[in-house]
Amino acid sequence: MTESASVCVPRIGDPAPDFEAETTHGILRLEDFRGSWLVLFSHPADFTPVCASELIAFAGVRDTLRKSGCELLGLSVDSIFSHIAWVRSLEEKFGVVIDFPLIADTTGEMARRYGMTMPAESATEPARVVFVIDDRQFIRAFMAYPMTTGRNVEEIMRLVAALQATDAHGVATPAGWKPGEGVLAPPPRTQAMAEERAKAAGPSCPDWYFCKRELS
Ligand code: BEZ
Repeated sequence: MTESASVCVPRIGDPAPDFEAETTHGILRLEDFRGSWLVLFSHPADFTPVCASELIAFAGVRDTLRKSGCELLGLSVDSIFSHIAWVRSLEEKFGVVIDFPLIADTTGEMARRYGMTMPAESATEPARVVFVIDDRQFIRAFMAYPMTTGRNVEEIMRLVAALQATDAHGVATPAGWKPGEGVLAPPPRTQAMAEERAKAAGPSCPDWYFCKRELS
């Protein structure tokens, strides 16, 4: 079995793996985020260009995310002193304050536990992995990008908003959905439910499996 095959990546619906980590905001534990949503993201290395562009982008949406009850937490295997120096550099050279914590996972243990390391790409530096963890500390979504491709923070915000809409209203969200747009009824699971939906057929419900509605 190769090393990558033996890594157990947390899956959607799993409890988020526990952690206690040294961060630029002091020691933080998973438990400290209970009651908030959390976007936990890894980046390969401090003082690298794509990672810098991502941190700046995350800083730009941090307040909006926070208003929706969601915190940000970054991770790399760089030391706390490297993180501190990089955060200072981003403020000095780019005028951007990084006001969310960065984990110094110097042993790589947390990156491995969360399946953030892609051994075929790098044995030590984590890839660009994002976990969306809900307010009950379950994994709700994850995505992985290679080292050379920066992520889209608008998509991450859209994903959090869609998951929150699902929880608040028991609905599903269509492709490219954004807050304020119509949502979908989850598909019927029984013949009887399908018959009921078929009877409600109309412009917003063209067939038994596709019914759209506005969120009130
Ligand atoms: C970057 O952030 O620019 C980067 C980091 C590791 C590999 C490739 C690019």
